[in-house]
Order: sequence, then C-alpha cells, then structure tokens
Amino acid sequence: MPDNECDLAVSYLGLTLDNPIIAGSAGTTSNLDTLRQLEKAGASAVVLKSFQEERTNRFVPFPRFKIIRNGAGKYRSDTFYSYEQAFEGDLDDYVLFAKRAKEILRIPVIASLECVTQEEWIRGSIMLQDSGADAIELTPSCPVGSLLRDHKLDFVRYSSDLVRTVKNDTDLPVALKLTPQLENPFKAVHQIRNAGQDAFVLFNRFAGIEIDVETCSPILHGGIAGFGGPWMVNYVLRWICEIAADPAIEVSATGGFVNGNSVLKALLAGARSVQIVSAIYLEGPDVITDTIKHLKMYTNKHEIHEIRSLIGKAARKIVPLDKVKRDVFFRATISSGLCTACGACRFCIYGAVEKRETKYYIDETSCVGCGLCVELCPVGAIELEERGS
Ligand SMILES: Cc1cc2nc3c(=O)[nH]c(=O)nc-3n(C[C@H](O)[C@H](O)[C@H](O)COP(=O)(O)O)c2cc1C
Ligand code: SF4
Ligand code: SF4
Repeated sequence: MPDNECDLAVSYLGLTLDNPIIAGSAGTTSNLDTLRQLEKAGASAVVLKSFQEERTNRFVPFPRFKIIRNGAGKYRSDTFYSYEQAFEGDLDDYVLFAKRAKEILRIPVIASLECVTQEEWIRGSIMLQDSGADAIELTPSCPVGSLLRDHKLDFVRYSSDLVRTVKNDTDLPVALKLTPQLENPFKAVHQIRNAGQDAFVLFNRFAGIEIDVETCSPILHGGIAGFGGPWMVNYVLRWICEIAADPAIEVSATGGFVNGNSVLKALLAGARSVQIVSAIYLEGPDVITDTIKHLKMYTNKHEIHEIRSLIGKAARKIVPLDKVKRDVFFRATISSGLCTACGACRFCIYGAVEKRETKYYIDETSCVGCGLCVELCPVGAIELEERGS
C-alpha cells in the first residue's frame, strides 16, 4: 500500500477484513462461481446463502424476482422484491458447500443458519464449525421464514436462548441478524447482548406484499415476500447510530447500502462492516469494485489514513432534541437570471411564492425559510440566506 493511501482494513467478528464491504447472504452467495467473482471484485468477506431447517423454503418458486416502482411523478422508490428463500440443499450439502468455499476463497467465509428446533441449530453450528467456516451468522429474521411467520414467537427471548446455545456448543464468532420488524431494536439489542453474541447485523429485510390491481391478487406466487431497498437506509442508519454508540456492541450494516456514499454513511453511523446484496443482483459484482474506488477517492480527498477512524463519527454529533437550535432564521430568494419559470416551486405551504406574469417571486415577509423550494428547484435558482436570530 503506498504511504499516502488510506488503510481500508476493519475488524469484524475478530477477523481482519481488507475493507468494510462484505457480500451479504443471498442467492449471490449460493454458488462457488459467484463467490469467486465477488472475491475478485474486492469483497472482504462473504456471508453464504442461509441454510434453513424448514424444508419447504428450499424449493424456491419461479419466477422469483420483481422490481417494484412505487410512488408517482418524481417521487418514486424502487424495491427489490423477492421470493428467493433458502439454500436449495440439506445440511450435509450446505456444510460441503461451506467447506468448498473455504478451499477456493482467500477471504473469510461466514456461514448463515436459520433453523427452528434447538437440536438443528446446535447440529448445524457444530457441523459448520467443522467445515472450517470463519464465523456464523444466525438469522432467525428471514422475512419469509417460519420464525417470523409465528406471531406468538418472542423474538428477543428466542434469539437470546439461541445465541447462548450456539456460543456454548461452538467456538465460532457469532453474529445475530435482526429483523427490522421489532418495536424497539435498541431495547432488543440490550436485552439480547448478555447472551454472548459477538456482533449484531442490522437488519434483514421487511416482510411485505405487493398487489396487482388488474388481477386483484398478490403478485408472483401469491405470498409474503422479502422487500428492501435504499428507501430503508435511514431507518437502518438511525438504529446503528443508537446501538453502536456503545463501542462494546459490534454492528454490521445491511439494508439499502448500494454504493460508496451509502457505505460511508453506515461507517459514520457506527458500523464496522457493511453488507451489500440487492445492488449486486441488480448491477453485478462490479458494484463492489466501484464502492471500494469511491472509498479510496473519498479518503484521499479528506486525507483520511485509516478508514476505521470514520466509524461512529457522525453518530457522535447527533444533537439531542432540547439542544437543536431554533432561533436562527432564513429566507429564500430567487435569482431571476437562473430561473427558467418551470413552476416546480409554485406551491409554498406558507404562501410565499407568487407568479407575476411569467415570473416567480418570493415574498420575503411570508417566507419562513423552510427550504423546500430550494430542494424542488431543478436548476439551483433559489438560495437560502440567514436573516439573523
Ligand atoms: C434475493 C435475496 C435473497 C436473500 N437471502 C437471504 C438469506 O438467505 N439469508 C439472509 O440472512 N439474508 C438474505 N437476504 C437479505 C440480505 O442478506 C440483506 O440483509 C438484505 O437484502 C438487505 O441488504 P440490501 O439492501 O443490500 O439488499 C436476501 C436478500 C435478497 C434480496
Ligand atoms: S423557503 Fe419555504 S417558506 Fe420560503 S418560499 Fe421557499 S417554500 Fe416558501
Ligand atoms: S423551481 Fe426554480 S426554475 Fe422553477 S420557477 Fe421556481 S425558481 Fe424558477
């Protein structure tokens, strides 16, 4: 590494990773060819596709993917919606797969399990330890798995018992992957943490449903599917900021991280590593190479020598509610030279935008400086200026 290049290495689950980008668990990590490609693209570790005890989930229906475009006009969000479920083999096949992955890859291999009975969680963990896997991700959080479908299940108690059992019976580092569908993830983490997990993975995807209005039916195979996307990233960042504020709690981020900028946000929130999945499906493994390039450019520009110095930096700057400055005021002005009279800013809820003949103006006595028109203007013709306190 040249002297002036940033050291991208991070430590996660007791492993030293070359960079913070992990290829997260999914179909993209369910065969040896793709695993090779992910390593080549720069992934610092892989989490294998989950093995599930529930046999039904090993037979995944076709077609299984849909990109759902919600919203209207400019206000759209893309959701990668999928019916893909478990690794398509039994536990012996999975252990063999983990063993082969270890043989062909230089980077750490993290196995992933979703069982139901205590015996199978224990059997699976011990067999995966023997396969040579570097760590194990426990995933009682699959959006279509039987655990989340059981509305009577106490997720926190179940996860605590599970972590305790696996830690008792293996020496592997253990990460627990949480569902985002918890009433209070902070509270859940604090209730589970004494069970002995080495890290929390925040979060698996939500369980959702999409409806076709022509057929009046749920799409694809008619059931509940996993759905996530960049729209969920702020939810994930919020909980990472709160949970990883305690440096003794190690967090890996997943849920809407699709490029270098979003990975930086995860680190700044407090994550030690960031797992990417949907972006790999939609853009291929090169998205990892591009993300690493972005991290290098950013650290070079900001003269950062160790990427780990960014971890938690933004979370430490969160301003508590009672300390938010509420006595500095702004007002907006339109630069008539730049304004194209497109009208995108025409509706101001404070009644401050006026159209006179063909031009738009802002009435400075009505403008409260909320900043929305600045966001809406497509050509940057509106500026906010401070007007004192
Ligand atoms: C098609 C698909 C299959 C997935 N399969 C698994 C899985 O087997 N085990 C698991 O723990 N998470 C699984 N996930 C969840 C991902 O590991 C990841 O946590 C989630 O998609 C959020 O990351 P993303 O926004 O980068 O996609 C899957 C996600 C997708 C999109
Ligand atoms: S800053 Fe807010 S209040 Fe002022 S004109 Fe723009 S939208 Fe209206
Ligand atoms: S959005 Fe911008 S360009 Fe369009 S009318 Fe308003 S100030 Fe002019």
